[in-house]
Amino acid sequence: MGLSALPGPTAAAVIVPATGPIVALDTLREPGTLRNFSSVTGVVEVELTAASPRLRLLPGGPLVQAFAYNGTVPGPTLDVHEGDSVVIHFHNQLPESTTVHWHGLHLPADADGSPLVPIAPGRTYDYTFRIPPGSAGTYWYHPHPDRRSTFQVTMGLFGAIIIRPARDPLAARGIPEKLLILSDNRFKSDGAIAFPDPRSFEAEVDLENGREGNVLLVNGQVMPTIQIRRGEVQRWRIVNASAARIYRLALAGQPLVHVGSDGGLFERPMEVPEVLLANSGRVEVLVRGTGTPGSQLLLEDLPYDRYMPQTRPADWDSTRALLQLRVGGGPAIRPVEIPPVLRPIPALDTTHVAARRVIVMSQGLMDGKRMDTHRVDIRAQLGTTEIWEIQNVVGMDHPFHLHGFHVQVLDRDGVPEPYRSWKDTVNVPKHSSVRIVVHFDDFPGKWMYHCHILDHEDEGMMGILELIN
Ligand code: C2O
Ligand code: CU
Ligand code: CU
Repeated sequence: MGLSALPGPTAAAVIVPATGPIVALDTLREPGTLRNFSSVTGVVEVELTAASPRLRLLPGGPLVQAFAYNGTVPGPTLDVHEGDSVVIHFHNQLPESTTVHWHGLHLPADADGSPLVPIAPGRTYDYTFRIPPGSAGTYWYHPHPDRRSTFQVTMGLFGAIIIRPARDPLAARGIPEKLLILSDNRFKSDGAIAFPDPRSFEAEVDLENGREGNVLLVNGQVMPTIQIRRGEVQRWRIVNASAARIYRLALAGQPLVHVGSDGGLFERPMEVPEVLLANSGRVEVLVRGTGTPGSQLLLEDLPYDRYMPQTRPADWDSTRALLQLRVGGGPAIRPVEIPPVLRPIPALDTTHVAARRVIVMSQGLMDGKRMDTHRVDIRAQLGTTEIWEIQNVVGMDHPFHLHGFHVQVLDRDGVPEPYRSWKDTVNVPKHSSVRIVVHFDDFPGKWMYHCHILDHEDEGMMGILELIN
């Protein structure tokens, strides 16, 4: 049976990539893990090299020019524990400058991999930081050089970071986990990555919308299959490594149990029909093995209109299949009980606020300006708490990201956030505003805040916050 013949209420409207007949196997491959060559407990020391090998980026396709960390796309996962001291010996073997940004991590400014600390071709840099307690969660790393982030990420530079706590309430129940790194790309007929002519209309649309691809990949694979046993509960850590695409994720035929976002687990699980995952954000969900043996459910990306009408893609309202979840044929296992409480998330204190700021995002601009690496846009005092109101004054969504610090959302358009979570990227939908609170407990220096549509970031939709002692 071909995939297009899948039964189900939404099958007709869903774009399912042609990958041949359904295979009954678990085909989802996860990236390898960065090998720790330190023998000291609590110290993680790894080697990471960015280079430009020829790789098979499209399953079954030809070898094409790519950029890769340690030779794979996605790059290997940095898998660490709270409290670990981490040293990453990074080697830039690319033909151009780069940085490695540890998206979402709370670390010293010189380890942040911001555009202020470029690594020239042929050079080596040691990223050294400690993993703070309470930061367990799913993160990712990617290049952040001045004006070249879209290009380098598109060429294949991105990888996941998993931070584990001493005791994880889900792992403690034996719930197995999967890592799903979502990306999208465009390819020429010869299999090479397609970049538009800089003077073309396509290039203009990319600049406006952010680059989107028609090929949706999970861990670099097209429509992989995950097997699940009847009764089994799986935890999926999902990273949106796309340059611009916002995913509206749903499992056709089953609600998701949303258990976490950017900065790790929530206080309590929430059953939801779908989750919105802005680019650079992460979600953690639990899925269940329900249904008859051999049946399959599709993980879908439902239509989400983040666009201005002028450049909205014609097929924006189609649903796209990302992977299939297949219920195995063996005997059912007894479902684990999903813990009703996951962990406490203390509310940041909003009664002693040193500054309240308004940050205005317009198309390509942050507070009416383009980023200037020699300018400081906001000066703040270390040890203080601030409330920022991020206003999006244009007709397109812009996901706002602050480096180095986890924030809590207070309200969106004045509506209090219904639950607490740690975030580092907050999507600000068209013509709306979001208020966030942040506590600058540590790490003086310069920190970027920007729209995480990578084309917008490259164009300078970014500002610099300087924390002073
Ligand atoms: Cu993923 Cu400046 O960030
Ligand atoms: Cu970041
Ligand atoms: Cu933007």
